[in-house]
Amino acid sequence: MNMNIGVIRGDGIGPEIVAQAQKVLEKVCAKFGHTISYTDILMGGCSIDACGLPLTDEAIEAARNCDAVLMGSIGGDAATSPWYKLEPSLRPEAGLLKLRKSLGLYANLRPAYLYRELADSCPLAAKDGGRTFDLIIVRELTGGLYFGDRFTKVIDGVETAVDTLKYDENEIRRIAKTAFDIAMKRGKKVCSVDKANVLDTSRLWRKIVAEVAKDYPEVSVSNMYVDNCAMQLVLEPEQFDVIVTENMFGDILSDEASMITGSIGMLSSASLNETSFGLYEPSHGSAPDIAGKNIANPIATILSAAMMLRYTFGLQQEAEAVEEAVKKTIADGYRSVDLMPRGEEAASLIMQKCDELGDRICERV
Ligand code: IPM
Ligand code: MG
Repeated sequence: MNMNIGVIRGDGIGPEIVAQAQKVLEKVCAKFGHTISYTDILMGGCSIDACGLPLTDEAIEAARNCDAVLMGSIGGDAATSPWYKLEPSLRPEAGLLKLRKSLGLYANLRPAYLYRELADSCPLAAKDGGRTFDLIIVRELTGGLYFGDRFTKVIDGVETAVDTLKYDENEIRRIAKTAFDIAMKRGKKVCSVDKANVLDTSRLWRKIVAEVAKDYPEVSVSNMYVDNCAMQLVLEPEQFDVIVTENMFGDILSDEASMITGSIGMLSSASLNETSFGLYEPSHGSAPDIAGKNIANPIATILSAAMMLRYTFGLQQEAEAVEEAVKKTIADGYRSVDLMPRGEEAASLIMQKCDELGDRICERV
């Protein structure tokens, strides 16, 4: 198979981590007899610097013409970067939102998995028998507060900002279906997260999820308020299989879910539309404070590339080869700096730079 992959290196640590994911992709393709052609696409601050916009129409077209897009991260330090002196619609993040919307990438999958060997990095109190959890957040990605009307203006002499939160039944139904379909291939449990004790959008959300659930009699479904879910994730993440939620709640809960795996550097993500196209990116940001130091953790990006193999290209074995290589690398004691424990256990582990960890994973594919 030839894979036509768009590559958005982006800003901050983006170029470093994408290079590792490309290295791993090349290794797995050599092993299984596939070829890759890459198309470079500019987005984020680097696109602002080069073209004056965080995402040009040409870049959207280039992405559309690929089978899938692999992305690093975009954005910079909001306090110091000149990109954040621009009006909001011209800042790096606006490019990412525009890409998601233009390509209809409404389903954002963010798995959070605790590796046995990283259980000590998990900040949660140990549990009898040790902790293990394996959950996935299915986040609605093209609706809600992110894409509602917004403005800031002086109303009756008072400076006022408004963001609107809107969902229609179709937007809810399709993401609910995605969640139930995924649950059927996993633990057959869906927890729908909302704020139905306060918000109308959440009450509609709950109603539509209940309707969709009728088509999946094998899946057990529960509802949870988002504040409770934030608490349950740190109390007992084992209880979750698939969490489905709206855009803003999913943004917040997925950062939380990533951190309880030991490091935000571990969490991959896929953003999908109704076709096999996908945008694959780590859930973490561009970490400008460590950019260029070759110490970033490339695992989230490498696991995102594995998701690409699985979801866009239907290459199950190849995806597993990458995931197993990551597991093996961790089991063999290799760690990026964010994964190093503080105490004495550190002595038996081998600290790796970003590119070294990429090499260790390649060797194990
Ligand atoms: C994410 C990020 C983005 C989001 C930002 C960069 C706009 O936090 O992918 O989770 O909020 O969706
Ligand atoms: Mg986020």
